[in-house]
Amino acid sequence: GILSIPKEYIRPKEELTSIGNIFEEEMKEEGPQLPTIDLKDIESEDKEVREKCREALKKAAMEWGVMHIVNHGISTELMDRVRVTGQAFFDQPVEEKEKYANDQASGKIQGYGSKLANNACGQLEWEDYFFHLAYPEDKRDLSIWPKTPSDYIPATSEYAKELRGLATKILSVLSLGLGLEEDRLEKEVGGIEELLLQMKINYYPKCPQPELALGVEAHTDVSALTFILHNMVPGLQLFYNDKWVTAKCVPNSIVMHIGDTIEILSNGKYKSILHRGLVNKERVRISWAVFCEPPKEKIILKPLSETTSEAEPPLFPPRTFSQHIEHKLFRRCQEALEKK
Ligand code: OGA
Ligand code: NI
Repeated sequence: GILSIPKEYIRPKEELTSIGNIFEEEMKEEGPQLPTIDLKDIESEDKEVREKCREALKKAAMEWGVMHIVNHGISTELMDRVRVTGQAFFDQPVEEKEKYANDQASGKIQGYGSKLANNACGQLEWEDYFFHLAYPEDKRDLSIWPKTPSDYIPATSEYAKELRGLATKILSVLSLGLGLEEDRLEKEVGGIEELLLQMKINYYPKCPQPELALGVEAHTDVSALTFILHNMVPGLQLFYNDKWVTAKCVPNSIVMHIGDTIEILSNGKYKSILHRGLVNKERVRISWAVFCEPPKEKIILKPLSETTSEAEPPLFPPRTFSQHIEHKLFRRCQEALEKK
């Protein structure tokens, strides 16, 4: 019920000039818009039909690194169950949700929480979230998943399993797109045993001064791939050709991002795009992001030799996934200090 937001949520003044009213932004028709890729024919028997679909996916991954995917094979019923159960968790009183509180300090990263300041400015973001590992099934800790509503675990489990299958198909198209063996990228990110699917439900409350805050600040995802469902409230913006582009809401699409991991392995041929989330006064926004991540230490990420040449030297130094995250954090802190 507050009318003005605490100062920790107010963005620096250079950034404020780029934050507008998200509903007005979503209505604008001019300018580029992120591609919608129809996956209906991704495994068609007809080679020509199949190639056309795969080519469109590859092109979108190279130009944008983010797209709406439709006819992805995941049923509307299942997506609705994920949305309904996730929303029902957040609709509970805060005391109920606090029972699932994470504890960053003690390394308990799974559970309910809000992001703490991770840079020198103490800047905060307008969101709460629920975070847990969703796949592979033997690495899950179901004891920390929401118990209410009772369909949360079945719905989210099934959804994660379906997404895992979809990730394999996408990775195979992206591999072929680089002239690699079909299963190469899948192997490079850990395969069925080691690729981790992390569920993060982002809950963006209504904000009395939405033009002063961000739900998520500008970032690229560190994952290999990210799949995002949302509740049809706009908020996502992509930094494309030096401008913020507002993603329109496409019913039953899944927004798919190429993350840093695939950008590195492909030596920048596939893009990990900078993006952020705006908030608004009128409607709560919820998004369900599933990050497909390689193991933290086991794999050294670097451009695959097939993607480099004398003319195209490696753009990224070898780093494990956890070193990559460290490096990004370090760079952010440096930038924050320089601004001070
Ligand atoms: C993220 C993210 C955007 C959204 O969680 O990494 O970019 O639409 N979320 O909530
Ligand atoms: Ni993101």
